[in-house]
Amino acid sequence: MNILVVNASPKGEMSNTLHITHAFLDGLEVYGPHDVTVFMVRDKKIEFCRGCFHCWNTKDGTCIFQDDMLEYTRLYRAADMVIFNTPVYYFGPPAILKNLFDRTLPFHVPEIVDRDNGGQRHEYRWDVGGKKIVLIATCGFYSYENNVEPLVKLFDICYGENCEKIICPEGTLFSLEVFRDETRPYLEQVRKAGEEMALNGCISEETRRSLVQRTFGAEDYLLLANNYWIQTDDQTTEEEKQRITIRQRIRQMPTLFHDCAFKKSPCVIEMSFPRINYECQMHLGSTEKKVVEDKEEFLPYHLRLFMDADQFITVASKHTGNHPNGPERGALLNPRKLADLALRLQEKGISRDLHTYKDTD
Ligand SMILES: Cc1cc2nc3c(=O)[nH]c(=O)nc-3n(C[C@H](O)[C@H](O)[C@H](O)COP(=O)(O)O)c2cc1C
Repeated sequence: MNILVVNASPKGEMSNTLHITHAFLDGLEVYGPHDVTVFMVRDKKIEFCRGCFHCWNTKDGTCIFQDDMLEYTRLYRAADMVIFNTPVYYFGPPAILKNLFDRTLPFHVPEIVDRDNGGQRHEYRWDVGGKKIVLIATCGFYSYENNVEPLVKLFDICYGENCEKIICPEGTLFSLEVFRDETRPYLEQVRKAGEEMALNGCISEETRRSLVQRTFGAEDYLLLANNYWIQTDDQTTEEEKQRITIRQRIRQMPTLFHDCAFKKSPCVIEMSFPRINYECQMHLGSTEKKVVEDKEEFLPYHLRLFMDADQFITVASKHTGNHPNGPERGALLNPRKLADLALRLQEKGISRDLHTYKDTD
């Protein structure tokens, strides 16, 4: 099969959505090999449509601009399947994808005809009969409602209900190294969807249902997302910036312990950063996992870590992938091994200090 992947993420290769698209392509490849071409929209020169309708006053639909839309047109026409990889921006497509769609006016003839299901359309200039369209999108909220509907509707109107759609909330998780285990089941379903698509030309109802599952519950996701940002300004000193970063990363950490078998009485991990004079504790119980900064609320610890601020921030950032072009960097320390150790110490009724932290993952 001739497959065109239209990567419409303004983040290019760093796209969260691309993790899902790669899993889908892996699934397709089971019945391959296929010829896959990636069209990276953000790197292309595509002018805005001027609305001059020059294309509709020429017999062959020639546009006034001779830019990278010529390449897109050639690839689109030759493709048996077109996969749109895109984020949700302001509930719809990002501007670069909307612009690409606007520029496809020459794909259509000027005559207006009625649609069977209401409204009107312009027919394609050429036969697009068997072409399969797949929309793969991620978004940053954890819900579909009042969020992704405009994007879905756009694809329904443009490509009909035969267009397959994989829309995944909590999209940022897919770029975070530390959540590989949590995102794997979703990616396996996407892979299955790719296999079904290659075999049957559509995704089964059962797999479609599995593709609307979320990775995290709302509470955990909000804890992660809302402690993500490092807000500073010109007045913020380096030391203060480190403290803010460390606090945010530690506040996210309880989310990572969802599969640990904590007891009712909390397992206590104390974290101490002597150089920047910051200490806190994590109280990890079966019903509540919280970060405590007020020393009056401190409990006897099971595990105490003395850490260097730079080292902690480096380790925490390492798990997040590298986002050189944007603010989506920094993030989480993978602390499951620490939690296991603290649990074992709690079981034995002893405590321990660790003076060097090694990232052993
Ligand atoms: C300008 C902008 C607008 C966004 N709008 C929404 C939105 O309306 N709904 C949502 O759930 N996420 C929104 N997001 C979050 C992205 O959809 C999310 O981070 C997505 O996973 C990015 O995908 P990508 O890395 O493939 O580009 C927005 C992000 C940006 C930068």
